Parts: sequence; C-alpha cells; structure tokens
Amino acid sequence: MNERDYGIFLPISNGGWIVSDTAPKIEATYDYNREVAVAADQLGFDFIMSQAKWRGYGGRTDHWGRTLESMTMMAGLAEATERVKIWSTVHTILFNPAIIAKMFTTLDQISAGRCGMNIVVGSFSQEFAQMGMWPEELDHASRYRYSEEWTRILLDLWSKDEVTHHGEFFDLDQCSSRPHPAVTPTLISAGRSPAGLAFQGKYCDASFLSAHDLTGLRQVSREAKDAATEHGRSLKTYAMATVVLGDTDADADRRYELYGAGADQEALQNMAIAYGMPVDKNAAPGAKAQEQSGFQTEVIKGSAETVTSKIEEMVEYAKLDGLMLIFPDYVPDMTAFAAAVLPSLSAVSA
Ligand SMILES: Cc1cc2nc3c(=O)[nH]c(=O)nc-3n(C[C@H](O)[C@H](O)[C@H](O)COP(=O)(O)O)c2cc1C
Repeated sequence: MNERDYGIFLPISNGGWIVSDTAPKIEATYDYNREVAVAADQLGFDFIMSQAKWRGYGGRTDHWGRTLESMTMMAGLAEATERVKIWSTVHTILFNPAIIAKMFTTLDQISAGRCGMNIVVGSFSQEFAQMGMWPEELDHASRYRYSEEWTRILLDLWSKDEVTHHGEFFDLDQCSSRPHPAVTPTLISAGRSPAGLAFQGKYCDASFLSAHDLTGLRQVSREAKDAATEHGRSLKTYAMATVVLGDTDADADRRYELYGAGADQEALQNMAIAYGMPVDKNAAPGAKAQEQSGFQTEVIKGSAETVTSKIEEMVEYAKLDGLMLIFPDYVPDMTAFAAAVLPSLSAVSA
C-alpha cells in the first residue's frame, strides 16, 4: 500500500499564492515560515517546500517583491523540525554543482536525511538578467543540456571521492566533495516541456505537475511516469492546489470571493508577462488561474467533506502521488485541514 503525500508550499514570498489585497496578509519572514514549518511537522504533513524567486511582480501588493532565499531558509527549518521532509529550490544556472553538492551534504546532516532539491533550469529571464546572470547564449534546449550535465556531476560528487569531468559546460579536475550525504537527497523538478519531462525521467524522484485542467493533469502525470519507466526508474507526481476551507460550502465560497475581490490586476499582468516571455506561459504554475483571479493555482474549496472528496477525486483521476498545498491563512487553515481532512485522505491508499 502506497500512501499519498501531502505537503506544504511555504510562503517564502510576500502575498503567498494569492495576488490580492483582500486575502490574509502574508509577509515572507523567517519567523512566519518557521511557524508554518513547525505546524506542518506537528500536524502530520509529509513535506515542506520553498520556491526560489529573485524578483517580484509589483502592483499595489508588490507581490513576491519580498522573498527570502530557499536553501538558507530550509537549513533553519531543518533544525526547527523533526520529521517532515525539507525540500528547497536550486537554479542550476546560478550555482556551480560542486558548491551545491556540499551545501546539500550539509543539509542532509542538519535534517538527518530529510532533505530534497527542486532543480530549476531557469526560465524567467528578468529574475536573472537583473543580476547579470541570464545566459543569453543558452536557449531552452541548451539550458536543459547544461542542467543534465550539472545533475550528473552532482550525483558523481555525492558518490565518488574524486571527480574529473570535461564536458560541454563544466570542467572538474580531481574535484573532491567529501563527506557524501548519508541519504541521497530527493531530486524533484517541475518543467512541463518535453525536455523537462525527459530530464525528470532520467534524474528525478518526483515531478511537480502543472496543467490547464484535470484531464491535462492526468496526461502529464502519465507522461512523467512513462519518462521514468523508459529509464528503468520510477517517479512520483505531485500537483499544487490552494485549499479554501469553510464550515460549510457557502462559507468557503464566501472566503473565496472575498479574497478574489481584491485581485491585483497589475501584478497579475506583470506575472503573466514574465512567465510568457521565454516559454509558453501556460507552462508557468497556475497560468490559467492567474488570468481569471488572484489565485495562482487550482483552488479546492468547500466544507471539510467537500474538500476531502474533491482531493480524492483529483488524486485518483490524475493518478497523483500527492499534492503540494497552499492555504490562505496558513497555520489556522492547516490546523483545520489536519483535523478534518487529512485523516480521511491518509486512510485512502494509492
Ligand atoms: C510546483 C512548481 C514549483 C516551481 N518552483 C519554481 C521555482 O522555485 N523557481 C522557478 O524559477 N521556477 C519554478 N517553477 C517553474 C518550473 O521549474 C519550470 O521552470 C517551468 O515549469 C518551465 O519549465 P519548462 O520550460 O520545462 O516547461 C515551478 C513550477 C512548479 C509547477
């Protein structure tokens, strides 16, 4: 029996995942994220994950204009928690793999084997151009070739005492990165392009999916799993969802409408432009939702009973291994979810 995983997308950036000034105010502080992480750990969630974001989207909410750094955040949260998995995000184009190899060996020790890495190739050029780090010479296909070489080096450094490598993008001479992690960090990625899926199939333990609708989600989940099977591997698939819980369905609708009423159209438009520039904007998380409301992902709303059955339907239909959840008001909403929804979900096997 394979239990599904329910994790938390941490609010490492201001505003969380609702681009609106009538939603609960979320500030991207370490203290707030620590509160959320400790609650996730104690309430029985399976993982916490933080994104890597280097530039926000303006508007009157200054959405994601204030963001902390993912790896240092997760190092602190590894110390603050005991059992929950700790996943942080790395942009391959920003870091040499030998530096990341050592950072995650350190995270492996701090977390006692609970750490994982969301590998991002880098698509949103503005974030990197502002610091002179957007590799103009690398197109989408080359960025994936670069990231493949990067990942192979990372895995070698984690398993061999010395690595000599002369490739298309990296030169390592008797490069040593010891100690090795006691538990190889979980590797996750979220690309939706064919190159992104092929990358996940070769190297990743899990994939974060994005799609227009449930049918698309089911298809991409199957494609990601097939990509892994081609390489004799297996891979878990997770989708994102924002949960709006209420005492009744009507109460949840009321919350949803209230939060959506203050949608910051300017920030939403800036976000759509940023996501749309280098790639098909539908490949960006929550692209469809952004066009319509302040919610950046699929929304699951209703009473505990309704939310439970909608989640069951979603994970069953799309053959997911779990969900990464977002909440409007994290700690109280997570507490309510853990009391009224999580126990029934955990009882259902995959
Ligand atoms: C759940 C999830 C988390 C993501 N986290 C990040 C992130 O932290 N930083 C980032 O730049 N992109 C992030 N992305 C974007 C993807 O990693 C990827 O760059 C995008 O989907 C385009 O990939 P593609 O060109 O292979 O389709 C995330 C996407 C999803 C669905």
